Amino acid sequence: MQTTDRFLRACNKEPVDCTPVWFMRQAGRYMAEFRAIREKHALLTVCKTPELAAEVTLQPLHRFNLDAAIIFADILLPLEPMGLAVDFVKGEGPVIYNRIKSKKDVEALRPVSPEDTLGYVATAIRYVRRELTVPLIGFAGAPFTLASYMTEGISSRDHRETKRMMYSAPDAWALLMDKLTCVIGDYLQMQVHAGAQALQVFDSWVGALSPMDYRTYVSPYMKRLFARLAPLGVPVIHFGTGTATLLEMQKEAGGSVIGLDWRVPLANGWRRLGDDVAIQGNLDPLVLFAPLPEIKRQVDDILTAAGGRNGHIFNLGHGILPETPVEGVEAVIEYVHQKSARPISKPIQ
Ligand code: CP3
Repeated sequence: MQTTDRFLRACNKEPVDCTPVWFMRQAGRYMAEFRAIREKHALLTVCKTPELAAEVTLQPLHRFNLDAAIIFADILLPLEPMGLAVDFVKGEGPVIYNRIKSKKDVEALRPVSPEDTLGYVATAIRYVRRELTVPLIGFAGAPFTLASYMTEGISSRDHRETKRMMYSAPDAWALLMDKLTCVIGDYLQMQVHAGAQALQVFDSWVGALSPMDYRTYVSPYMKRLFARLAPLGVPVIHFGTGTATLLEMQKEAGGSVIGLDWRVPLANGWRRLGDDVAIQGNLDPLVLFAPLPEIKRQVDDILTAAGGRNGHIFNLGHGILPETPVEGVEAVIEYVHQKSARPISKPIQ
């Protein structure tokens, strides 16, 4: 494991010796070490057992020269103490057995004390921090993305039930988003108090919305959430996919780093967002399956678009897929570091 804070420096738009790199879902099934743990334990057991969560968090750090770790957990964990029955079914992904259908269901959702009900994540963060020599990222799902799972009960393509509630029961929607905003704020604060040195908010499915609906039904809650997180004093990465038409509003909502998926050329995204935020991204996760020359060409394109500006964190545009070749992962990390190496200028005294 290397010792470096270049990830945090880049989040703060300070000069770095080379571009930092980490990957969403860097702990996962593409690694034999992870599969070995999963043969013995269910996903929720790994998440809820701090020793196992810490071990799995560290697996990719032992194997690759990554510049940050992300705590092993799942965005759906806070839904359990709110009163939902969450499980992960092999081959099908997440399932919620008592999905939210009405305002009555929203009213019945319980307030959550993260210390009492999600303390296992804080414990895992403390364990990881003892071992780790690079910064640790904490995370949570954003209100819209969590509301989508709560109303659909599964990963959804068209978000029909979510939009049905949004358009037909705006009171229920407002209450749901309000409750989620509170829980996520408290949960992320707990993670920072436990030792998380940066946070990422995953709004993975928000690209399903028109810009008009984002402004009306989502943006007010995101603004509240980021206002709540800013005083915690750590960089916050605001990530979504399919967000080409939402970027400006996402920036307005908040976050010191904006995550781009691969559908937006990085130079275009950065020009639109301006120089006062850092940028994370944005290699297509499928490029990791490509032959080395193609991997290098695509990494070169991204580094050229970033142009050595302060504030670029290299990442994929979305999470690593389970079938990803480990060699592709290794190649990208090494090549990013090598190609972006630059003399770091001393601050003028
Ligand atoms: O990045 C990391 O290494 C930390 C771990 C992490 C997990 N989930 C563990 C996990 C993170 C950051 C998440 C976030 C998450 N979970 C998101 C946002 C990121 C994204 O991809 O958009 C979402 C939408 C979820 C919900 C979720 N959890 C889904 C859709 C699935 C099934 C996907 C699949 O590949 O089966 C999960 C399960 C899950 N969470 C896995 C992991 C490693 C795979 C399940 C397994 O190990 O069997």
